[in-house]
Amino acid sequence: TTPAYRTLDGKAPLIIAHRGASGLRPEHTLEAYQLAIDQGADFIESDVVLTKDQVLVCRHEPMLSGTTNVAELPQFASRKTTKTVDGVAYDDWFASDFTLAEIKTLRAKQAMADRGQQYNGQFLIPTFQEVIDLAKAQSTAKGRVIGVYPETKHPTFHEKNLGLPLTDKLLEALTAAGWNSKDAPVYVQSFEVSNLRALHQKSPLKLVQLLDADDVDASGNLVMKAPYAQPYDFVVAGDARTFLDLTTDAGLDFVKTYAVGIGPWKPYVQPYTPEKKLPATSLIERAHQRGLLVHAYTFRDESRYLLKEYNNDPKAEYKNFYQLGLDGVFTDYTATAVAAKQP
Ligand code: G3P
Ligand code: CA
Repeated sequence: TTPAYRTLDGKAPLIIAHRGASGLRPEHTLEAYQLAIDQGADFIESDVVLTKDQVLVCRHEPMLSGTTNVAELPQFASRKTTKTVDGVAYDDWFASDFTLAEIKTLRAKQAMADRGQQYNGQFLIPTFQEVIDLAKAQSTAKGRVIGVYPETKHPTFHEKNLGLPLTDKLLEALTAAGWNSKDAPVYVQSFEVSNLRALHQKSPLKLVQLLDADDVDASGNLVMKAPYAQPYDFVVAGDARTFLDLTTDAGLDFVKTYAVGIGPWKPYVQPYTPEKKLPATSLIERAHQRGLLVHAYTFRDESRYLLKEYNNDPKAEYKNFYQLGLDGVFTDYTATAVAAKQP
């Protein structure tokens, strides 16, 4: 029989709740994660950073002002400081300067101005342990497996600049959960090549190499950086720094040595056209030839995030990508991604 999907395993694509149901609730809160689970998510995606007392908390950035009320709290006014993260200076409040107890006095807010603000000030910042606990409890409650999909955010910044062991703490948490195995309902993702390669030496966990977003021109066409390079990481060949385009055949062969899949920005997995100056054979096909999964980001309902081909119809966008054989989608709107799986 013909498999229903052109995914690597022939099963339905994974619905990965990007920062939870972050289109509808403040991102990276237990409430956002719970809503995504209720809407049918297979995995909860959590970006993780470390507190001063070395606890993993779920935030997209080590900076706190974009997604919490920290700037409104007089007791923390003096904590604002400047730090350089991967070459960019930020004047902000940093998770690494706060204890977990202090972080727990903050409240989450919606990061995007044109999304609902009605939940601002209500929800706590979760630890990654709370996400593991939620996934386990909800797997039992729902009678289906709900996994976790943590992303190590700026691991080199944490480990080298701050002296905070981000990756080790993640491994510790997953090990304590009984999930330091290739069969665990876990994928670990990062943009940093060296971070994943080091993790691969220590653990059998399934790893996914993220591929960074690129630029689009005024007409919305993809403009490829040449050569493609991770923004703050690179492949080290001997002592020489050489950039490797991870979307090429050689790049995919390299990723295959430490990861089970790639997490590209979604335009990379479009059918390629000469105008887009991309290889003739699709990235999904070439990844699948090597046994690599493809989980693309980020799928959102708002028209400004849709690729222009889809006429402002998010379900059409999902359906197109599902037909291409994509193995998973990182989505801010789990319900839409689930609904688009139906014929
Ligand atoms: O992890 C996939 C996607 O989330 C990567 O982008 O910036 O949303 O973490 P970002
Ligand atoms: Ca992420």
